[in-house]
Amino acid sequence: MIDYRRLGAVSEKPHTVFEHEGKMVAEHVFTRDGFSDLYSILYQKRAPTHEVKVNPFSLNNPGFPHKPATAEVELRRRHLKTPLHSQGGSFLESRKTLFFNDDCTVGVSRPAKNCNEFFINGDADEMHFVAEGSGVLQTVFGEIDFREGDYLCVPKGIAYRFQIKNPLYLLCVEGRKDFGIPREFRLPQGQLRLDAPYTHRDFRSPSRLLTLGDSENPAFVVKRNQQLTAHQYTEFPYQVIGWDGWCYPYAFSVHAYQPKTSSVHLPPTVHTSFSGRGFYIMNFVPRIVDYAKNAVPCPYPHSNVDCDEILFYVKGQFTSRKGIEQYSISFHPGGIPHGPHPEMYEKSVGARETNELAIMVDTFAPLKMAESAFAMEDQSYHYSWNTTDHL
Ligand SMILES: [Fe+2]
Repeated sequence: MIDYRRLGAVSEKPHTVFEHEGKMVAEHVFTRDGFSDLYSILYQKRAPTHEVKVNPFSLNNPGFPHKPATAEVELRRRHLKTPLHSQGGSFLESRKTLFFNDDCTVGVSRPAKNCNEFFINGDADEMHFVAEGSGVLQTVFGEIDFREGDYLCVPKGIAYRFQIKNPLYLLCVEGRKDFGIPREFRLPQGQLRLDAPYTHRDFRSPSRLLTLGDSENPAFVVKRNQQLTAHQYTEFPYQVIGWDGWCYPYAFSVHAYQPKTSSVHLPPTVHTSFSGRGFYIMNFVPRIVDYAKNAVPCPYPHSNVDCDEILFYVKGQFTSRKGIEQYSISFHPGGIPHGPHPEMYEKSVGARETNELAIMVDTFAPLKMAESAFAMEDQSYHYSWNTTDHL
């Protein structure tokens, strides 16, 4: 996903006999887009194909996989107070998808306990932004230690689970296709450009192989076509001794992002961090703001009619909106204009820096609301720009 990486033991040449502790190991070729895109090769003690039981799986959680809204959803700006979704349960039990279209989904999860099962998303790549908490992302490619501020990217089809040290507050994004580093940040040869907002060294792949206890044999919960199934093996099937390739889970800290600033306001596209088919992820990080005399650092009101916009407010003072709280999500659909509250716009003049941290998801196809979103909605938001009495 970032560059070529390798962990543990791999054979001298792919597709040849490779022995470990006197036994031939299985080669597991993990590919994307058929056999025509990035791939990795894992070496494991046994091929992961010996399921002994497959069952439909239910989480008793209507928020994941999501259900579309049943009520009529009129076009208006929306504000979701995600802290209304209380902390508790495992990552999957707590997960709520709030918005979706054919390209991506956006949701939250606030897990407080570990999940025994490993999860495989067979529909989409996943990116979880860690707004709060810390732990270990356990994957079949190995383990990644993570903490607040990390993006955790798990490509489609890779089994993982969270080991939680401190309870997590996650923004969860699914991307169906081409999710990762935007093409424009790379040279044709694959290296990140010098003017990209991050470098190869900022990305952390698994630092150690996964080792479970001898008696551990967790099931694998797979989401494919929005349905969950549980797969059980006679023994843990991913006893990996090494892997190499270009497709693996990774982490990137938002605090390593190098923001761009200008004399006057730049459009949010300069804050891009990741992209997928039909959407971009941007992050607003603490930075010096527009330094021209009389510059207005606050964003201008805008009608970006081809985009729906989701903003997740992580921490700091949010320069453009009032009534927004930590971990609020605002949803500004295309078709109608949006922008800062007037007093925030005027107040921003003369500011020299901002300490805001927020994550934005802009989609080109309209987003639909999932049923779970309504329980968190602040109904007064759409009219909060109006300073006079209204009907
Ligand atoms: Fe906007």
